[in-house]
Amino acid sequence: MADITRLVGNTPLLRVRLFESEFPRVEVYAKAEWFNPGGSVKDRAALSMIEDGERRGALTPEKTIIDSTSGNTGIAYALIGAAKGYRVKLVMPGNVSSERKALVTAYGAEIVYSDAGEGSDGAIRMVRELVTHEPDRYFYPDQYSNPANPLAHYNGTALEILEQTAGRITHFVAGLGTTGTFVGTSRRLKEHEASIRTIAVQPEDSFHGLEGLKHLPTAIVPQIWDSTLADEVWGCPTEAAYDLAREAARSEGLLLGHSSGAALWAVHRLAGTITEGVVVTVFPDSGDRYLSTGLYGRRAG
Ligand SMILES: Cc1ncc(COP(=O)(O)O)c(C=O)c1O
Repeated sequence: MADITRLVGNTPLLRVRLFESEFPRVEVYAKAEWFNPGGSVKDRAALSMIEDGERRGALTPEKTIIDSTSGNTGIAYALIGAAKGYRVKLVMPGNVSSERKALVTAYGAEIVYSDAGEGSDGAIRMVRELVTHEPDRYFYPDQYSNPANPLAHYNGTALEILEQTAGRITHFVAGLGTTGTFVGTSRRLKEHEASIRTIAVQPEDSFHGLEGLKHLPTAIVPQIWDSTLADEVWGCPTEAAYDLAREAARSEGLLLGHSSGAALWAVHRLAGTITEGVVVTVFPDSGDRYLSTGLYGRRAG
């Protein structure tokens, strides 16, 4: 019998047909990360960092897990913390979607709000202050600096992609938040086959509506970020990502979150530059987490 944490990873690889008529020789696949028990790709990183903390003895039963999170990592900490019996405290910008706040609360985690105007960087600053003030009380995984975050993808996501494509992948596309997904997956893929090209996607500018993604030039750059792994870094406009998310729901039955729309935007741009290929991307979470944001309230196109 497995506990819920054993269901993290091994997500399905979906065939995406959205661009097939325009680019018939480009095969597109996506890891459907909402199949993780917490509903997002962040279950992988959270479980990896928590179990690394347990192994190192940094996380012990009397400690509270604390971190800053725009939502999905928080849900993952809250779920895994509940399953393993740890208290969880999360610092989030005040404007994260109501679905996310409700989910975290349902798992029994405590939320501390940081200034919405300061975004995820404001949340990072606040959590650092809390930990500095009471270092013995907390286990602070620090997802932006913790090598166990990209390692979850190095040991998990990348190997799954190689197996699920039977090693046929030629291009990898992923959005940048903490950068863990992109860095860990790309590192393993390039070690396996140096010719695999990697494209990282960030919001086009600092004021954007792509929850979960970071505009690196204007953000605190995560320590785990490794620019040498990115053959390209592209900036995605918010509206283009929303349009593609809406189109995927209507034409493929795929209800995707904002950042999956950004991944699709980059896949489409890439497809226009290659004659053929096997492109794999990551859909970090599902659109049902964003219904209150109006993502699906408007008509496509
Ligand atoms: C919805 C969503 N998309 C993408 C990402 C980016 O993933 P990573 O932190 O591995 O770069 C995140 C991370 O929080 C996210 O919540």
